[in-house]
Amino acid sequence: MTIGDASPARLRRDLLAHLPGSTLDAVERIVAAGAAHGDVYAVGGAVRDFLLDRSVVDVDLVMECDAPAVTYAALPDAKILAHTRFRTASVTIGGVRIDVATARDETYARPGALPAVAPADINTDLRRRDFAMNAIALRLSGGPALLDPCGGIDDIAARRIRVLHDASFRDDPTRIFRALRYAARLDFTLDPHTADLLAQSVHYIDAIGGERLRREIELMIAEPAAGAALEAAQRAGALQVAHPALTWDSGRSEALADPVVPRVPLLPYGFALLAAGSSPDDAPLIVARLKLKRDEAAAVTAIASMRKVAQTLRRPDAKPSGVVLLLDRFPLAAVSAHAAIEPDTIARRLALRYLEEWRHIKPALNGEQLIELGVPAGPQVQRALQLLRAARLDGWATDRDDEQALALRFAKSIRDSADAKAQIELNLN
Ligand code: CTP
Repeated sequence: MTIGDASPARLRRDLLAHLPGSTLDAVERIVAAGAAHGDVYAVGGAVRDFLLDRSVVDVDLVMECDAPAVTYAALPDAKILAHTRFRTASVTIGGVRIDVATARDETYARPGALPAVAPADINTDLRRRDFAMNAIALRLSGGPALLDPCGGIDDIAARRIRVLHDASFRDDPTRIFRALRYAARLDFTLDPHTADLLAQSVHYIDAIGGERLRREIELMIAEPAAGAALEAAQRAGALQVAHPALTWDSGRSEALADPVVPRVPLLPYGFALLAAGSSPDDAPLIVARLKLKRDEAAAVTAIASMRKVAQTLRRPDAKPSGVVLLLDRFPLAAVSAHAAIEPDTIARRLALRYLEEWRHIKPALNGEQLIELGVPAGPQVQRALQLLRAARLDGWATDRDDEQALALRFAKSIRDSADAKAQIELNLN
């Protein structure tokens, strides 16, 4: 689609044709139900992405009437999540999320606060939004029309991100992260005045609540262009305001794009990279400030405390079993982050071998087989398994026979020490 040469009718037809069948059916039902009360529009990302020839991931609908009531009426059997405070409803159909909102105006009592909302017309609703490129509405009910009161189409054509008023970042400092995320994702640049406002507003990030702040950083980590977005956040000073011990650089970008362990949990891994320069004292403060989820918090706590084991990991003669004993205690996300950005060559190589090879090495014999070989059931089985694993890792057991011989010796040493203990007790009595 070339921007500018498309009629609203063609835009509407093509945008709808783009949706999977079941999603289209749901959208049409919502539009029909809403049209009985007023006009219904597609807005935000769906229109922007469609104009940019990018695939539409979710659909935002706005109507000048009660959106949750219309959505319930249109889709009586669907699982709808309504948000009464904002008069919005959300439903996922055919893998596409449909957000339905009541057109509204917003006022912010203080920077970073959630806005107070009041029903409004579509033009007011467009003008309260973050950026001009997100403030375009395509009417889906009645005759087609494209509403672009803030010049969003020109901005999209010029690949520009522009706020709609000077207090935008102060009212809602999450928009700072949004701007940097969109710039990285879409390869857009900030309009110079918007860039100035962003630089002056970075300190307002302090006013964002923990969960919202965490969510913004999660969205950055999950972006395909995460590295560029986080580097921009670092340059802007946004990460440092979130917490002074968070940091990002191009090495971290590479590590995030290409993790050593391909299936490492992305968000904990991203937070571990962000917190890799932090001290054990910083970790609980980061966790509390960002209200991190359990696995994210574990990764941050672990990467910060890995400093304590760093010395051992820098020894060229460290035994594989020793490295495994140390690193097995930490979540994979933290060890992966450590391996990716540790500056010491030896430590990095050891961590990489742990991740790629050593952590997978397990004994061939299992607990039951050890019991058959004479190891007493109970905690000794676990000890024997650890011994066999260490033997495998350090190369003094290379096959099952070696393990069997070791297990027999282990069982015998337990019997011998039990006999010796019994003898001593006998002598004492
Ligand atoms: N919006 C806003 N200010 C915010 C968040 C959202 O004005 N802090 C508006 C924007 O108009 C945005 C719309 O709400 O387009 C929907 O928000 P969201 O779903 O987060 O963004 P999308 O535009 O759909 O973009 P994305 O592709 O990132 O989902």
